[in-house]
Amino acid sequence: MSSSTVAAEPLLTATSEAVAREAQAGLTANPKTLSPWLFYDEAGSRLFEQITQLPEYYLTRTERGIFTTYADDIIRHAAASDLASSPALTLIELGAGTATKTGILLAAAVRQQGSIVYQPVDVSESALAEASENILANIPGVTVRCQVADYTREPLPLDRLPNTRTLALYIGSSIGNFSPTDAVDVLSNLRDQLQPGDVLLLGTDLAPGPHKTTADLLAAYDDASGTTAAFNLNVLTRLNRDLGANFNIAAFGHKAIWNPTESRIEMHLESLRPQTVTIPATATTPKLTLHFRQGETIHTENSHKFSPAAISSLLSQSRFATSQTWHDPNHLFAVTLATAL
Ligand code: TRP
Repeated sequence: MSSSTVAAEPLLTATSEAVAREAQAGLTANPKTLSPWLFYDEAGSRLFEQITQLPEYYLTRTERGIFTTYADDIIRHAAASDLASSPALTLIELGAGTATKTGILLAAAVRQQGSIVYQPVDVSESALAEASENILANIPGVTVRCQVADYTREPLPLDRLPNTRTLALYIGSSIGNFSPTDAVDVLSNLRDQLQPGDVLLLGTDLAPGPHKTTADLLAAYDDASGTTAAFNLNVLTRLNRDLGANFNIAAFGHKAIWNPTESRIEMHLESLRPQTVTIPATATTPKLTLHFRQGETIHTENSHKFSPAAISSLLSQSRFATSQTWHDPNHLFAVTLATAL
């Protein structure tokens, strides 16, 4: 893979075939599902950016607050070596998006080591272009190498520089969007591509407790302005556009549920009446005729919420040792540093 710029090839055919296969697999399953990566087309990435600024969506500003308070401490701990020489850090970020919080850590790294190489990885090319532009304009000393890739399917485009330690960032509680077994797979894959002593900074949203009610949690995924609803429904708009499907967007509703057994928020698209939707055949998938009962849902996303014990267990199952955790004052969110074993 090239290592300098955002990949320019649109790969349109491959992408819409991937969308078609995802739609076929998910919408012929019972119950119906759609894979969350479908959210992040250009409109979806923009809507997601708006979600992160909503008053109800406490996650982003809380994690940013932790970085603002502790960035120097975090970078110092990440760089601290048991070895005699303390190698410079290189940052790689999984699912970087527009990387608005990462700048705080990059600025701290530049303060401590003078310069840094930053390798954001994301499926959204437009988000990476924005990330790169913002960072280059605002933080001198950072070299940005964007990679358009799906880190859940492709090996990470890890570009290891000599005498450096890799700090892998996986923030925003994105790990919570995987099932517990897939989460271990994602982190194990990451671990396989790191060297012992490299470090991971993992951001996780915490389970309800004394400072967080399930109502607070639900509001974060079903806001008053309807932005999360629009984000969820945009998946259907994407299927209409990419595949020529005929979803009537007004006939579906956004539904967020707290599932205490699985410790997760679930997002669904609910069919508001009985209806039939068709998706034309593509080169690799047959024509689909889909029937929906009134109240039937398409399960589009999970967002798991963690106890401190669950975070440690996830990390140790993925061959990382937890070394330090930072919280906001209300213990809504955790940022955990772990070392590759
Ligand atoms: N990982 C974050 C979370 O679970 C961000 C996110 C992913 C999200 N998918 C989402 C936020 C859907 C709102 C709706 O909260």
